[in-house]
Amino acid sequence: MKVQGKNYRTIWIKEENHEVISIIDQRYLPHRFVTEDIHTVREMEQAINDMHVRGAGLIGAAAGYGMYLATIEASRKNSFDFLLSCADALKATRPTAVNLEWAVNRQLNAITDGKSDKERITIARQTADLIANEDAAYCRNIGIHGVEIIEQISKRKKGGVVNILTHCNAGWLAFVDYGSATAPIYEAFERGINVHVWVDETRPRNQGASLTAWEFVNQGIPHTVIVDNAGGHLMQHGLVDMVITGADRVTVAGDAANKIGTYLKALAARDNGIPFYVALPSSTFDWNIRDGVKDIRIEERNSDEVKYVYGLFDDDIKKVLITPLSSPAGNYGFDVTPSRLISGLISERGICPATEEAITKMYAEKIHQL
Ligand code: MRU
Repeated sequence: MKVQGKNYRTIWIKEENHEVISIIDQRYLPHRFVTEDIHTVREMEQAINDMHVRGAGLIGAAAGYGMYLATIEASRKNSFDFLLSCADALKATRPTAVNLEWAVNRQLNAITDGKSDKERITIARQTADLIANEDAAYCRNIGIHGVEIIEQISKRKKGGVVNILTHCNAGWLAFVDYGSATAPIYEAFERGINVHVWVDETRPRNQGASLTAWEFVNQGIPHTVIVDNAGGHLMQHGLVDMVITGADRVTVAGDAANKIGTYLKALAARDNGIPFYVALPSSTFDWNIRDGVKDIRIEERNSDEVKYVYGLFDDDIKKVLITPLSSPAGNYGFDVTPSRLISGLISERGICPATEEAITKMYAEKIHQL
């Protein structure tokens, strides 16, 4: 996507030094556009852990490049065990988004085919690039498929505004490019469809207000930032035509983990007869589990993320306490929307019902014995 007229992905190999990975440091958005160079796998672990990079697809790509850096370091240390310990450390950074362990395992499988350090490094780099390129291509396809739904609503409304509600940031910043939930929106906008997006601010870290809104300002997408609890009211008054969210892990039966608060939007959408879609690349499916509420581990983060907010004051980014200092706070990162509340899944292969039958038909080759 373009930032100040220049094309960017969220992660890339540095042109001047192929042993360095560059990222957009998302902690400073929307107020500052900052890029960061990552030199070691430890730095990549920290970047994932501390949310310099975030979002399921991007975490996967970052883990892929992290393993590339780890392979270089392992060859210097002459230690394959080092590589294995880096794989474990990367997987432990963020537990809910399945793309992370998927990317690390894909790298491990590929790297073990290498017969020398040089070959292993080449394989790791190629695999990291492949993961990133696939992520971008899959999101592009999600856009092509998902736009059909927006087109239908637009036709029904005779070209009137299609109001879409989204939660958190499943935009290009959460992937390598295009985004999952945003890809159909970008595609609709490109095709001249009249769209407007309600952007949930998404407490506690406000990825909607800071990241999704920033993306939309850059791309010229009409949008309005709303507080997290406004969606139900808007739906009751006919101001939402559809909901599209991303996902961090989707079970083989179609239950979807996404940013905390998504489940409540799905309940409100069902109560108001509004279609609720989940957009995801296939790397976000967990083929080994069915029951999302029971089997998806929900990340709990530092309670300071609830107690403090960041914002711009006098041209400086400041951290502000919003609770009594001594109040305890709970910080559950995600919740699970059961498949029964999901109208359909939009993936790189098309749109399908959120049912085990439809998912396993679409991805027949992926299914292991459950
Ligand atoms: O905690 P984050 O910012 O990594 O959360 C991920 C998300 O942005 C959402 O849950 C998103 O909708 C998933 S799409 C990759």
